[in-house]
Amino acid sequence: MRIALYQPDIPQNTGTVLRLSACLGVPVDVIEPTGFDMSDRALRRAGLDYLDQAALTRHRSWNHFLSDLRANEPPPRLVLLSSQAQLSHHAFAFRPDDVLLFGRESAGAPPDVHDAANVHLRVPMQPAMRSLNLAVSVAIVVDAAGTQTQLWPDIAPPKHRPAK
Ligand SMILES: C[S@@+](CC[C@H](N)C(=O)[O-])C[C@H]1O[C@@H](n2cnc3c(N)ncnc32)[C@H](O)[C@@H]1O
Repeated sequence: MRIALYQPDIPQNTGTVLRLSACLGVPVDVIEPTGFDMSDRALRRAGLDYLDQAALTRHRSWNHFLSDLRANEPPPRLVLLSSQAQLSHHAFAFRPDDVLLFGRESAGAPPDVHDAANVHLRVPMQPAMRSLNLAVSVAIVVDAAGTQTQLWPDIAPPKHRPAK
């Protein structure tokens, strides 16, 4: 399983996702251009002390990312998360090698990115709400997909305590 961020604009969100990646052991692809300086120096200056533990791959463009992805045999599924999608992430059977792709904070993902995705999923929200924060949506979906595909082998199931 991988997390892919399409041209993120807000450094704090990418920082939060990189920390999540380090903590859960899920690699991250950042598709550039980003709305901020992605150099190691800039990320460290922003206080990103988890950078060494995160498995980060930077891609110069959407086309570079796509050709890297398609070089795999078989290519993994590209699962786009969008607040406009019809299918709930709860109703989807994830695979351990799925690439979970998230749009940018200001504008989501453009039509060519939607077209390239194999499936489009949404995290259900209250009807009047527009969207979740990017990093929050990543955490919700990665946890659901990782739990479903048993990506968290170290975590013992909770012990049931008898009610007092
Ligand atoms: C802040 S949202 C983008 C909002 C943007 N203004 C738009 O209209 O799409 C950034 C990204 O978080 C993810 N996201 C946010 N809420 C979501 C939801 N309810 N379901 C699925 N993905 C969501 C999507 O990948 C989205 O592109």
